[in-house]
Amino acid sequence: MNKNLVVLGMQWGDEGKGKVIDCLSKKFHYIVRYQGGHNAGHTLLVNDQKIVLHLIPSGVLHKHTKLFLGNGVVISPIDFIKEIDILSSYNISLENRLFISRNCFLVLGYHINMDLAREKKLGKYLIGTTGRGIGPTYEDKVARRGITVGDLFNEDLLSQKLKNNIDYYNFQLNHYYNYSTVKFDDIFLNLIKYKDILLSKVKDIPYLLNYYNDTEPKNILFEGAQGALLDLDHGTFPYVTSSNTTIGGVFTGSGVNLNSINCVLGIFKAYCTRVGSGPFPTELTDELNSYFVDKGKEIGSTTGRRRRTGWLDLVLLSRMVSLNSVSSLCLTKIDVFDGLSEFKVCIGYQNYDDLNVLSMSSSVLDWNSIRPVYKVFSGWKTSLLGITKFSDLPTEAKYYIHYIENFVGVPINIISTGPDRSSIIMVRDIIN
Ligand code: GDP
Ligand code: IMO
Ligand code: MG
Repeated sequence: MNKNLVVLGMQWGDEGKGKVIDCLSKKFHYIVRYQGGHNAGHTLLVNDQKIVLHLIPSGVLHKHTKLFLGNGVVISPIDFIKEIDILSSYNISLENRLFISRNCFLVLGYHINMDLAREKKLGKYLIGTTGRGIGPTYEDKVARRGITVGDLFNEDLLSQKLKNNIDYYNFQLNHYYNYSTVKFDDIFLNLIKYKDILLSKVKDIPYLLNYYNDTEPKNILFEGAQGALLDLDHGTFPYVTSSNTTIGGVFTGSGVNLNSINCVLGIFKAYCTRVGSGPFPTELTDELNSYFVDKGKEIGSTTGRRRRTGWLDLVLLSRMVSLNSVSSLCLTKIDVFDGLSEFKVCIGYQNYDDLNVLSMSSSVLDWNSIRPVYKVFSGWKTSLLGITKFSDLPTEAKYYIHYIENFVGVPINIISTGPDRSSIIMVRDIIN
């Protein structure tokens, strides 16, 4: 029987999904991205070699894996090809291993200009996007004017659609945003240049995944990008990304059957981070923020921005675990607490009904008025970096882990103890 797994970030992204998926990929044959685009940055560290992936699934280093970008992923052709080239310079071949849906929407130059122009106009109220054109690309999909990989099959139609879209966007860029416009030739010629590579990778992904699932005893891993709190519908709107990062995105973004999912692994850091603007009830602004940025190397892997940091928030984690049917948890970056004599965890909000907090729109809810209630934990005196056995953890770390499990009601089956692939504790098998 297949054992198929969804891996989701439980916070605002950068939980260490890439590292953990790389570790798990030994047991999976098919790795599927189903939402987001090259706004994601997933870091793998193997024997001191660092690889940052943006679009290509994080199982890529395992040669037996086949990699899929489902219809819910938005693809920037230039960045897609660039990433393939970088991997090939590391001798990682994607020939007959990487497949994309013809229904993936393309991120094009005018999406990037629109993203940047909007952020500029928002001034101090900016979202803090990655500037990769992701929001405008998904808008085009919803508005039914977007250009898909499949449109590359027909150059006349492609040219017509592109002209219409460029007219529409250049008018806004010029007259509303006072921002630089784009040229048809630049975009069209690039698309023609890259079209053969893209088209050679097109497959009917829903058919294939459901077929594999019905006929082969091989496991599928669905790789979430971003984090649940950045979900367009369930996150801290409007400070979110433009796709569904929560569990529903797996189905709409890949076309897999409901009964194909056996486990959902929720990944969270021992503390919280976010890049960009938006609510962050447990945010730290003092020297502890600098501690986490330095010790946790909290610099964005896509944009190089310094990440905001704060204490772990169990109110938000519990809500995301329940909303996503999480069956197993993975705790990452616990080694970053080495060196702290004590640390805090948010176990409630003084003035809000915990469970309702995210269901209120941010215009109604004044996030700044939230007063987190903290429980203080004792730190440990040894280093957790690189530990691979649960029994080797100090008592204080075990107490912290069990406390979270009891609070959230889901077991922590994986613990990551460092950035390297080898620094991991598989407490219990989540997949046989
Ligand atoms: P992703 O977007 O969820 O894949 O996470 P990122 O790769 O953007 O950010 C996670 C960062 O933490 C990367 O630099 C990883 O190398 C690093 N990392 C992952 N797990 C651990 C861990 O357990 N301990 C430490 N210290 N670093 C980790
Ligand atoms: P991974 O997969 C962290 C954030 C941006 C911004 C908001 C909207 O590495 O966890 P967008 O460009 O998507 O329109 O920006 O979402 N964001 C991420 N934050 N990790 C990511 O991906 C992110 N992808 C987008 O910083 O706040
Ligand atoms: Mg990241």
